[in-house]
Amino acid sequence: MKFQGSSQYVATADLMLAVNAAVTLQRPLLVKGEPGTGKTMLAEEVAAALKMPLLQWHIKSTTKAQQGLYEYDAVSRLRDSQLSDAESAAKVRDIRNYIVQGVLWQAFTAEQPVALLIDEIDKADIEFPNDLLREIDRMEFYVYETRELVRARHRPIVFITSNNEKELPDAFLRRCFFHYIRFPDADTMRSIVDVHFPGLKKALLGAALKTFYDVRNLPGLKKKPSTSELLDWLKLLVAEDIPPEALHSSDDKVAVPPLVGALLKNEQDVTLFEKLVFMQKHNR
Ligand SMILES: Nc1ncnc2c1ncn2[C@@H]1O[C@H](COP(=O)(O)OP(=O)(O)OP(=O)(O)O)[C@@H](O)[C@H]1O
Ligand SMILES: [Mg+2]
Repeated sequence: MKFQGSSQYVATADLMLAVNAAVTLQRPLLVKGEPGTGKTMLAEEVAAALKMPLLQWHIKSTTKAQQGLYEYDAVSRLRDSQLSDAESAAKVRDIRNYIVQGVLWQAFTAEQPVALLIDEIDKADIEFPNDLLREIDRMEFYVYETRELVRARHRPIVFITSNNEKELPDAFLRRCFFHYIRFPDADTMRSIVDVHFPGLKKALLGAALKTFYDVRNLPGLKKKPSTSELLDWLKLLVAEDIPPEALHSSDDKVAVPPLVGALLKNEQDVTLFEKLVFMQKHNR
């Protein structure tokens, strides 16, 4: 079972190598990279390619590690205990009725091997990765309320993504295989665009890519546009039927591209770009 990219997803050779290395080592694959470089989509595509169900756990600033294991629903139990019928009384007596399984529990006890995505782990507080060390390493945890040990029937393939908002602890890193998705070069980007817009005209694609990389390479940009933003922009260019010539001025100098709002997301960057265009015009 080797991952080799898919018809929806362009995987570079080093990315495929990383996925297969993590599977071989049976360690989580920690994927970092700029926003929009296909980290989340990687997990979806690997799961689809290996025909495994994908369980997703999207992390927020308030997410606690325990929520991935299980939660004890004390409120429901209290409410049921106030009902007087026999059925509720029987339910209340067994605490197992109020243990809500988390994503990790579901992944551990699934019938078939599954893929598990822990998305944007850097959003949680610093204790979060540390709290999951044992679960990720040994693939087991203890449920204190029912005194049972939940152990993985099959080791899931674990994907962990991070946008680098916080450093991850060393003990956690030791347990992962790491891969940084570098920003795609022009050739890889062509293949990615091809996957999304198979019939795109060569001239438009060439002009759009040139403008896109010009914008990205602008020094001092606060937020560089990413793959997904290029795709949005191309979609608009096609929808509005914008000709390739409109993307750069006749003397091949930088011009503010049409529909620039798909690429630049704050006013400082737009101003910076306009200034550059202005300076170029006057330096001629
Ligand atoms: N290698 C690729 N092949 C095909 N499409 C891609 C690729 N990389 C990115 N994309 C496109 O970019 C979009 C964004 O990808 P995704 O949501 O996986 O990014 P991400 O790295 O998880 O971003 P974020 O850090 O913001 O969550 C995808 O929906 C897909 O359309
Ligand atoms: Mg993502």
